[in-house]
Amino acid sequence: MGLGGCPTETVVIAGQGYVGLPLAVLAAESGHFQVVGYDVAMSRIKQLSAAESYVEDVSSARLAAVLAAGAYRPTADERDLDGFDVAVISVPTPLREGQPDLSHIEAVARALAPRLRRGCTVVLESTTYPGTTEELVGPLLEEGSGLRAGPDFSLGYSPERIDPGNRVWGLAETPKLVSGVDEASLEAVRAFYDRMVNTTVPVPSPKVAELAKLVENTFRHINIALVNEIAMFAHELGIDAWSAIDAASTKPFGFLRFTPGPGVGGHCLPVDPVYLSWRVSRALGRRFRFVDLATTSTSTCRTTSSSG
Ligand SMILES: NC(=O)c1ccc[n+]([C@@H]2O[C@H](COP(=O)([O-])OP(=O)(O)OC[C@H]3O[C@@H](n4cnc5c(N)ncnc54)[C@H](O)[C@@H]3O)[C@@H](O)[C@H]2O)c1
Repeated sequence: MGLGGCPTETVVIAGQGYVGLPLAVLAAESGHFQVVGYDVAMSRIKQLSAAESYVEDVSSARLAAVLAAGAYRPTADERDLDGFDVAVISVPTPLREGQPDLSHIEAVARALAPRLRRGCTVVLESTTYPGTTEELVGPLLEEGSGLRAGPDFSLGYSPERIDPGNRVWGLAETPKLVSGVDEASLEAVRAFYDRMVNTTVPVPSPKVAELAKLVENTFRHINIALVNEIAMFAHELGIDAWSAIDAASTKPFGFLRFTPGPGVGGHCLPVDPVYLSWRVSRALGRRFRFVDLATTSTSTCRTTSSSG
């Protein structure tokens, strides 16, 4: 539709960081939505209102265009959450004392709940352990609204896969996993993203979508640790690890190239696998040994970079 259209749906994106801001701007640019970019950090809201982007993937010119078109409104005022049709939760999920800290998700769910109306859709995008959408977000929304997830409003999970700075695979180009607590929710979540991204991929449940994101990042975490350990051994054995990896990479199947580097760092890779191992140990009383080993190994390497 483009910026000149006449959008009728109001979308709230809670959390205007690396995940929420690109989504908010893409939604506003689609011409389908009136977008409210909600964030508790007043300093960020001031920057956004002045069309100053602090996220690499969103230029200040794009921000200025959606602000000027009236399609995007940054705010720190909770009252601006009133009247939403779709709400996306993209707030941080850090660790506190080595355990998942879902307080930011809880705060947003509590703020959205009294504003829920029949027919609304709520999507969680924050990376988290399997079960968060149905066991935490759903009940908080239901308690605060008196409505039921499924029959009364749609609820789902759609993980964010952005790779900040990647010029090939941006938000619109990267297939987007979508899920819902029931068939109608899945359709509502899918219809929302279909208006912005090239490909949506429905998965059977929010738990599957939540786990899929952790599979992706745990896979990277473990492979980074593995190749770094191989590189250290190879060095001590007097063998050039890079040549060996180049040679292995000529195999056209069954091998995925990872190269030695500073290890894991950034927002996601050191944190996300811990969400999975925490869930495994809480629910099953067992350790997720691969994650433990990769975490010990990469911290031994004094690692710093890589996102996800
Ligand atoms: N950065 C990435 O590359 C990336 C990729 C995929 C998934 N994720 C996941 O997405 C989620 C968000 O990550 P991010 O990188 O955008 O974080 P971020 O720190 O860049 O941004 C989060 C924003 O949420 C705001 N916030 C905190 N509590 C809030 C509340 N109660 N209401 C409204 N806003 C609130 C913060 O002020 C901040 O501006 C995390 O779960 C992260 O693991 C991040």
